[in-house]
Amino acid sequence: MPDASDTITVTPVASALGAAIGGVDLADDLPDATVAEIRRAWLAHGVVFFRDQDLDAEHFLAFARRIGEPVEYPFVKGLEDHPEIIAVAKLPHETVNFGGVWHSDTAYLERPPMGTMLIAREVPPAGGDTLWASTTAAYEALSPGLRQLVDPLRAVNTSAMADVSKTREDRIKDSGYEDEREYVAEHPVVRTHPETGRKALFVNPAHTERFVDMTVEESRPLLEYLFSVVTRPEHTVRFHWEVGSLALWDNRCTWHNPINDYHGHTRVMNRITLAGDVPA
Ligand code: SIN
Repeated sequence: MPDASDTITVTPVASALGAAIGGVDLADDLPDATVAEIRRAWLAHGVVFFRDQDLDAEHFLAFARRIGEPVEYPFVKGLEDHPEIIAVAKLPHETVNFGGVWHSDTAYLERPPMGTMLIAREVPPAGGDTLWASTTAAYEALSPGLRQLVDPLRAVNTSAMADVSKTREDRIKDSGYEDEREYVAEHPVVRTHPETGRKALFVNPAHTERFVDMTVEESRPLLEYLFSVVTRPEHTVRFHWEVGSLALWDNRCTWHNPINDYHGHTRVMNRITLAGDVPA
């Protein structure tokens, strides 16, 4: 009988990033070869999508542990018995999407996550898609002169920037921590992916305040230009969620942005982030 590594399919859905993986039930005790195949696809495509996965919290965590080490999110408490899983939710009376700004996850930590997994539990009747962008493709699209300019730069990343802070408020109200937290970390503007060796921009609109040794005002024009290159349509992919859809993205070389076009409806996802290294 063929094992899952023989039946798994990987179908790219856009050229810069994104692939659909089929032929695998993530609730199974997957053979190492299947996990290796998923990991290869994830590294090659930046974000991979699965459909129709019937995973309770235990199975979701078990799959996450095959890919990396789940870590807790610093701003919102996790589910009662599973602190590594948070609910990413928008309720009918709310108007703000959690994380509704282009970003990579928690880039303000010394060790930002290697990757993130999101599974859809409840989706609106229409809309609520998520966009991802490849910061590898963006770096590679820069001219040699601009790459030379940005290669040695470092940037200050903070959790306190206003646009993204607003997107956490609803969830902090119902499941946040008591203390006022702020995290700040300096990272290279261009990081080398520790597994693929490819260079990627590692600044983002939600968390990057300025270049090290420069003011916010001085940094803004070049940051804005870099951001505009990342979000060029040809560097992005868009995914439509159904209950049981699961996305796994590489947080070292992608950004994401959930689209806030479903006011009056509920959207509930469960998220796990996976421990990463110090960007270099
Ligand atoms: C996030 O993790 O930033 C949320 C992504 C989403 O809700 O699609």
